[in-house]
Amino acid sequence: METKELISAAFQALENAHAPYSDYQVGAALLCDDGTVYSGCNVENASYGLTNCAERTAIFSAISNGRKKFKAIAIASSKAPTPFPCGACRQVLAEFCGPDFEVHIAENDGYKTVTLGELLPHAFDFGETDA
Ligand code: THU
Repeated sequence: METKELISAAFQALENAHAPYSDYQVGAALLCDDGTVYSGCNVENASYGLTNCAERTAIFSAISNGRKKFKAIAIASSKAPTPFPCGACRQVLAEFCGPDFEVHIAENDGYKTVTLGELLPHAFDFGETDA
C-alpha cells in the first residue's frame, strides 16, 4: 500500500472522531505486515482524562483482531496543529514496533515521515516478549 493511501485512510477515520471538547478530530491508520489496515479516531469524554487518542484506538483495534506486526502508521487531523503523536501513544507504539517503524503525519496538503526511534529515543522496554 502506498503512503498516500494510508494517509487517506487516516483522514477517513477522523470522520468518526468523537471530539466535542477539543473540536480537534484525529484519525490514524495502521498498516499490518499482512497488508490489512486498522484505523482509529480520538474518542473524548466529559471526564477529559479518559480520552483515547486516535493512534491508540487503531493499535488496540489491531491487537484485538489478532494482528501483532506492523509496517507503518498514518495520522491526520481536521486542522492545525500537526498531529504528532503524544507521549503515551509513542510508548504504546514502542510496545509493538521497532525504532525504524515509520510514522507518516499529514501536514498541509502533504505529509512528513519520521521514525518511532526519532519520536521516542530510549523507549522503556522489558526486552524480548511475545509482542
Ligand atoms: N489527539 C490524538 O488523538 N492524537 C494525536 O496525535 C494528538 C492528540 C487527540 C486527543 C484529544 O482528543 C485531542 O486530540 C486534543 O488533544
